[in-house]
Amino acid sequence: MPTWNSDLYLKFANERTQPSIDLAARIALDAPRRVIDLGCGPGNSTAVVARRWPAAALTGLDNSAAMLAAARKDFPQWSWLEGDLATWRAGAPFDVVFSNAALQWVPAHSQVFPHLLAQVAPGGALAVQMPANFDAPPHRLMRELGGSAAWKGFFPTPPREWHSHPAEFYHDLLAPLAARVDLWVTDYIHVLAGVDGIVEWYRGTGLRPWLEALADDATRGRFLADYRAALTPYFVPRPDGRVLFPFRRLFLIACR
Ligand SMILES: C[S@@+](CC[C@H](N)C(=O)[O-])C[C@H]1O[C@@H](n2cnc3c(N)ncnc32)[C@H](O)[C@@H]1O
Repeated sequence: MPTWNSDLYLKFANERTQPSIDLAARIALDAPRRVIDLGCGPGNSTAVVARRWPAAALTGLDNSAAMLAAARKDFPQWSWLEGDLATWRAGAPFDVVFSNAALQWVPAHSQVFPHLLAQVAPGGALAVQMPANFDAPPHRLMRELGGSAAWKGFFPTPPREWHSHPAEFYHDLLAPLAARVDLWVTDYIHVLAGVDGIVEWYRGTGLRPWLEALADDATRGRFLADYRAALTPYFVPRPDGRVLFPFRRLFLIACR
């Protein structure tokens, strides 16, 4: 698994954190006692959960030591666990199992989602947000560039696969196990300083496996320049020079 850079990730902290605010706001529980944030990263989504339920006992879990170090430093008041969210088991059930922008990194959703729902206490909720934009130009162009004549020799195996499915998949999987499943999609339109902003955004997330498969900074620089050139026709600057970067996200809340 590639290493995460919490500073680079938090460059777009507002844009990356808004979906967790929207997800937490939709969970219809007034006073959950125990809440866990799976794939908590540097603790930005855990802080959202803390604002929603200030009295809850909070735990954040992540498998990146670098992300957890940032979380522990900024939020020493909560519990932080290093582990794999796919195999994590709650000692005692949690009232809310929350996960923002993490489960798309994890395979085998048909096993993992029922497993996570089983860690939720009766009356509680599993609440998840994942990107749903893997066919949008920034992702499609990443794959096309990696598979192009100039670059495919650098990637003998595809550096990563995305692991999320359409809403129907999660409904059909979880409805038989849950009292209720809510699903929705939101298109966020991020306003960025220019195409470089989109390259920077993905350098902190989706491009990392591609960049880390390359041997040195010079080659990584060439890959980023080619990626930027491929993106440019799709993101025409507005009159103020900024570009609009649409980003679709899928939300689900399964209540036990
Ligand atoms: C895009 S960040 C999301 C951080 C934060 N939840 C947020 O809302 O901004 C994804 C996080 O998921 C973590 N992650 C990915 N796969 C994981 C796994 N199998 N187990 C635990 N954490 C994982 C990564 O280390 C990273 O910190």
